[in-house]
Amino acid sequence: MEIQGKSSTDLPDRPEIFEFEGISMVEHFTKNWENVKNFQARPDDILIATYPKAGTTWVSNILDLLYFGKEDPKRQTTKPIYKRVPFLESCFPEMQSGTELANNLPTSPRLIKTHLPVQLVPQSFWEKNSRVAYVARNAKDNAVSYFHFNRMNKAQPEPGDWNTFLEEFMKGKMVFGSWFDHVCGWWEKKKTYPNLHYMLYEDMAKDIKGEVESLCTFLKLSRSDEEKEKIINGIQFDAMKQNKMTNYSTVLVMDFTISPFMRKGKVGDWKNHFTVAQNEQFNEDYKQKMKNSTLKFPTEH
Ligand code: A3P
Repeated sequence: MEIQGKSSTDLPDRPEIFEFEGISMVEHFTKNWENVKNFQARPDDILIATYPKAGTTWVSNILDLLYFGKEDPKRQTTKPIYKRVPFLESCFPEMQSGTELANNLPTSPRLIKTHLPVQLVPQSFWEKNSRVAYVARNAKDNAVSYFHFNRMNKAQPEPGDWNTFLEEFMKGKMVFGSWFDHVCGWWEKKKTYPNLHYMLYEDMAKDIKGEVESLCTFLKLSRSDEEKEKIINGIQFDAMKQNKMTNYSTVLVMDFTISPFMRKGKVGDWKNHFTVAQNEQFNEDYKQKMKNSTLKFPTEH
């Protein structure tokens, strides 16, 4: 968050984690719950749904550029991504809540971000048949990215050391709940809700052009090759890392001396973190938890 005019010593303490509607949560994602639950979606809204650290900012930026990049090229360097794509359930001190920001968005369609598991998404999105772009990332890289995020973000609970964090991750004791329930819950939803486009971070890393094309097909957008090329240049990891409007460097609760928000942007960084024993235990647990799902990641092991 941007807590303007405050020094980092005035920042609130790390939040406590608690159970809320069946998942682990922290207060700034539950405080505005009545407004979240009763949020009025529109038929042309696009909901960007992810488990934290799965590539939300990447897809948000792609969609923002696809819709508004041509008519307003300056927005990429003047407007932070969290103002272009409001975070629905967020409610931080001294900031507009996600629902307020979404309700006041001047652009159409509205691009709205959520980390909610599918069962907690406000009903009106389904009733209005809004489009949803879901991004999932392989569990191990997702866990590593989440660990570093919690280290540097004072609005998140203390992660403890890597081993402790990984155990909590496997138990699902993370803000926004279990990775397993999240990715599988949304995967199941896709079977009955055609307006859901399910993407993988690994596919984006391998073939971003193809993924942008398939997003355009899903959204029935026609964009020239030149426009697409421009977008693809703007959403490269290095470009987004250098850009203050996408790298979250204006957000005071994040301590970039610990870890940057745009950290590595790689597939397979888990290999630099998991010990052999942790990997074996994780694989065993993974097999059990994913045994009833048809969801497959290209680079899990
Ligand atoms: P790492 O921590 O592994 O580097 P989210 O936006 O959901 O919080 O996800 C953040 C993760 O996505 C971070 O992963 C970040 O580096 C990665 N990411 C963001 N933009 C990216 C891009 N353009 N290309 C590749 N990875 C990107």
